[in-house]
Amino acid sequence: MKTILITGANAGIGLKTAEELLNENHHVILACRNMQKAEQAKQHLEALGKGQVDVIELDLNSLQKVQQAADKILAKYPHIDVLINNAGLISNQLDSTVDGFEKHFGVNFLGHYLWTLKLLPLLKKAQQGRIIHLSSIAHWAGNLQPEKFLAEDNTHYRTFLSYGSSKLHNLLFSNLLAQQLKGSSVTSNAVHPGVVDSDLYRQLPKLQYKVVSLALIPPSKPAQLIKKMALDAAWGQKNGHYASVQTPAISSPRSKNLKLAQQLNDLSYDLVQQYL
Ligand SMILES: NC(=O)c1ccc[n+]([C@@H]2O[C@H](COP(=O)([O-])OP(=O)(O)OC[C@H]3O[C@@H](n4cnc5c(N)ncnc54)[C@H](OP(=O)(O)O)[C@@H]3O)[C@@H](O)[C@H]2O)c1
Repeated sequence: MKTILITGANAGIGLKTAEELLNENHHVILACRNMQKAEQAKQHLEALGKGQVDVIELDLNSLQKVQQAADKILAKYPHIDVLINNAGLISNQLDSTVDGFEKHFGVNFLGHYLWTLKLLPLLKKAQQGRIIHLSSIAHWAGNLQPEKFLAEDNTHYRTFLSYGSSKLHNLLFSNLLAQQLKGSSVTSNAVHPGVVDSDLYRQLPKLQYKVVSLALIPPSKPAQLIKKMALDAAWGQKNGHYASVQTPAISSPRSKNLKLAQQLNDLSYDLVQQYL
């Protein structure tokens, strides 16, 4: 039985992935910000009658809360086999995290960055640790723009560019980690889950949602791929890969630029250092 930690596992792709993994009798920990929704998801998953389900409160909107949640995990579990960094949002308007970061940057990327650095020792204690980052095809639209990290400095806000940048950051981080972890027992890979029928698009204007909805696939599709990435022996050999549902698995040249990834890492490390 593998211990698998999933962020944002009360809904959408995260919940479906938890279901897939429980059906294989694994131990799944749901890291969620809303405990009421998390308990409902737990009840739903326990009704499957397989594996084991735990819940932990995690709000990626606050670096201190990420630190507290990670410390609880470190105190409670001897190892983590698979970490699935899945939680994410699209914010239609400029918004700020508790720490003043632009919401996509803070929640989708920086919170997960701190979370992963904190939990890396537990992945190293597993026989074979795997980290899976939910990126997106939208990373093609992204860029590294440190001047936009803070919400108050974020002029000319564009939802898609801001979301795309956070998904580029997820992928750059995955690729840098893969490089750093080469030769260790831990791998790091990323995935574009397809355009999935979930709550992610709840804030989009009606017309934009109509366009997006033409391509929607059910969350079970990416959940099946993520299950393979988490469990299959073949995926145990892969490190630094970008997988994709629905579209060819081609990542942008920018996402493969390790100098850019190192720059993002150096900037991000300074931002989270006090919470490590
Ligand atoms: N859906 C797509 O088409 C698509 C395409 C490409 C990439 N992705 C990526 O796939 C991942 C999952 O998305 P989804 O489609 O399953 O979206 P979803 O149904 O909206 O689920 C997102 C999950 O993230 C959680 N979350 C949001 N803010 C959080 C925070 N501050 N702290 C902790 N958890 C938080 C949500 O919790 P609440 O329920 O409490 O809000 C929810 O559990 C995301 O990273 C997204 O960027 C999705």
